[in-house]
Amino acid sequence: MRPSFVHHLHPPTIPARQARLRYTLAAGGLAVFLCLVLLVTGLLEMFYYIPTPDQAAASIQTLSFLVPYGGLVRNLHYWAAQFLVVVTVVHLLRVVFTGAYAAPRRFNYLLGIGLLVFAILLDFTGYVLRWDEGVRWALVAGTNLAKSIPLAGNALYAMLVGGSEPGPATLIRFYAWHIFGLTLLAGTLLVWHLFRIRRDGGIAVPPPAKRETQERITRYELVRREVAAMLLASVALLILSAFAPAPLAEPITATASLSGTARAPWFFLWVQELLKLGSPFLWGVVVPLAVLTAVSLIPYAFPKPVEAELGRWFPKGNRLAQICIAALGLAILLLTVLALVPAQ
Ligand code: HEM
Repeated sequence: MRPSFVHHLHPPTIPARQARLRYTLAAGGLAVFLCLVLLVTGLLEMFYYIPTPDQAAASIQTLSFLVPYGGLVRNLHYWAAQFLVVVTVVHLLRVVFTGAYAAPRRFNYLLGIGLLVFAILLDFTGYVLRWDEGVRWALVAGTNLAKSIPLAGNALYAMLVGGSEPGPATLIRFYAWHIFGLTLLAGTLLVWHLFRIRRDGGIAVPPPAKRETQERITRYELVRREVAAMLLASVALLILSAFAPAPLAEPITATASLSGTARAPWFFLWVQELLKLGSPFLWGVVVPLAVLTAVSLIPYAFPKPVEAELGRWFPKGNRLAQICIAALGLAILLLTVLALVPAQ
């Protein structure tokens, strides 16, 4: 039989232990599924969304309340985007806590970091497209961070917002980045990441002689599990989208100032909390970039698990990396919680 496209997606058989839900948490597969949901719902939203400051929030209202199933499409897009960030972080943690980043998968780990950055940037740019009171922090404090960068700051700010303060040019720029620039780059990275998994010999497992079991499952069984996970995820996403609408506030009018109650999007709350410590350049640019660099360097800077330990959780060989990522994750979580506590 000539192999079809589907045959190229998975090898004929894969080790049973590493195909278990409790090993992968299905996080990588769910991230792929959420990307597909985002692509379809995003394309549908484009038929109604108008990227101008006076029409943006109104066009979203039209989509949500007047277009048949428009609200559902918007909610699906919103929730899929939030879950993509969560699921991608879970996948990253799974990769570090199983030591799966070790050579030859170091490069694919970096591609994964790129995907996480794009998931966050897409979430951020999409959030600004609402152009309502809720996005004021992103529009004022978020973009002002660019200005704080020595030497290149002002030029970078002008490039980002398209002028000396946020306005129509900012919205059209964020729109172009969201639906075209970032989407194209992220799509390319995603295909590359998936291709590299096959190229690196499938997901990390010990060499055959060092495996506890030689049991394998077929690609048909794997696809059956993937379809089951996607169906379950679809039901959960549909139920959530039917009952929990995506946020939408009053359309924004004056964009130059920051109100006292303005809040960062949830995935940047930890940065908003850090900014309370002082210098915007240090706490809003240097520290987040240092965190990103530190996480990217894990496969290069830390010891890796020995071969026999691959393909299982918490191998002894990379304990240090596990401790560091856990500490970093907890610090970010704590800062996020602190940002949510109302000021006295
Ligand atoms: C949109 C984001 C991402 C998607 C769609 C994605 C997708 C996938 C899929 C489907 C797998 C197969 C195994 C599994 O499901 O666990 C995988 C494996 C892998 N991913 Fe990702 N991934 C993403 C982000 C990341 C991130 C943020 C990292 C780490 C920084 C990463 C690093 C890896 C590595 C090293 C493997 C091989 C794991 C192993 O051999 O066990 N990926 N990815």
